[in-house]
Amino acid sequence: MIEERQPIRVALLGCGTVGTEVVRLLHEYPAEYAARTGAPVHVTGVAVRRPHKHPEVPERLLTTDPATLVEGDADVVVELIGGIEPARSLLLRALRAGKSVVTANKALLAEHGSELYAAADENGADIYFEAAVAGAIPLLRPLRESLAGDRINRVMGIVNGTSNYILSAMDATGAGYAETLEEAGRLGYAEADPTADVDGFDAASKAAILASLAFHTRVTASDVHREGISGVGAGEIQAARALDRTVKLLAICERVLDEDGTEAVSARVHPAMIPREHPLAGVSGAFNAVFVEAESAGQLMFYGQGAGGAPTASAVLGDLVAAARNVVVSGKGPRESAHAQLPARSMDHTPTRYHMSLDVADKPGVLSQVAATFNEHDVSISVVRQEGRGEDASLVVVTHTASDAALRSTVEKVAQLPSVHEVVSVMRVEGERS
Ligand code: NDP
Ligand code: HSE
Repeated sequence: MIEERQPIRVALLGCGTVGTEVVRLLHEYPAEYAARTGAPVHVTGVAVRRPHKHPEVPERLLTTDPATLVEGDADVVVELIGGIEPARSLLLRALRAGKSVVTANKALLAEHGSELYAAADENGADIYFEAAVAGAIPLLRPLRESLAGDRINRVMGIVNGTSNYILSAMDATGAGYAETLEEAGRLGYAEADPTADVDGFDAASKAAILASLAFHTRVTASDVHREGISGVGAGEIQAARALDRTVKLLAICERVLDEDGTEAVSARVHPAMIPREHPLAGVSGAFNAVFVEAESAGQLMFYGQGAGGAPTASAVLGDLVAAARNVVVSGKGPRESAHAQLPARSMDHTPTRYHMSLDVADKPGVLSQVAATFNEHDVSISVVRQEGRGEDASLVVVTHTASDAALRSTVEKVAQLPSVHEVVSVMRVEGERS
């Protein structure tokens, strides 16, 4: 009888948006969790900052001292506090005491993942973190386990719901960035301090985790090139629309070849124009979606809710069942796989494509001057569109693939041409053949 088995004791650190749902679901379906785990799952303590704000948790379980829970008799510690400290120290203590850990903390994993893996490994404990990237979407387990027999070449996706909500709304309404951000805050889609989301920090942490798993290499947030969406205005959205494209904040992790044929990893987060018929273009609002390209499996797409209490709790509880099951059968989950240790490729050397919109003088020779500048930098042009407006003209150029450094230098030189009045917008282009 499962009920007669020694229960799995769970210490919950943090009981906010996600933790509250974890507590609710464990309370609502105890028999199902017991059956799936092989033993009853009992929450034996919940650490918060303000116990009086938590009527949903029995008072006897609440504490403001997470260290006592970590040092106590828990089998599994679930960390839902967020941020680096005290989460890092608490999880290291738990792992060193042989307790398995479940966390949704992307910032911590992107900075200190290796330290946590090592502590888990040395002490026979597990570390699971499915909720850290793309909320409810089962993505990390497929990368870590299902695709362990394949070679992943590229992971590209929308992994930040807040910025995707803002860009989708700008595309739908034609409104500017600042007013859309304000509206997103009013509707509860953007946090009071949206910096981590709109400046790309959140997506960069997620990209580091994705690249680490996909390429069996340690990649930290500082290896990820990061640009946010605050520079995207109504003009950029309109320019994309004119070319039947839309703008998305993308996390792109790629296996790339250096000139001498050696492999490297490029990881970047930036806004990019993608064709409207691309599957990621239809991902709107706060949803997430990730494309994975693997050598044998081909293309795979993962789509769903990337945030929110219940969706994120689904991923946390999946991990909790896995960790608890391992405790019951004395099993072990996957370890860190960083055997490839590919070097990080800088953004300068990463191949990209640019869309450029220019205000130029409408007179003979301008187009050839602009084209010559591209030529000097060895950048090949894919599309040119010019529209006269009296004495001036609007000139749109979309390039073929070149190194990001070459493309940036080209923009700088084009901006200095006397016939170019203004570089109206510059944005990378993704999701189509170059
Ligand atoms: P919240 O801010 O809603 O909750 C944080 C919880 O931690 C609160 O219960 C808070 O206590 C508690 N807490 C904070 N500091 C301490 C401390 N020093 N000691 C004890 N308890 C503390 O966060 P979320 O639930 O939104 O997020 C939790 C984790 O999940 C984060 O890592 C986040 O990145 C990740 N995540 C969140 C998603 C979401 O949609 N919210 C989606 C995917 C991942 P009190 O309630 O008393 O203030
Ligand atoms: N702030 C994040 C987002 C939450 O907007 O996607 C999920 O990690």
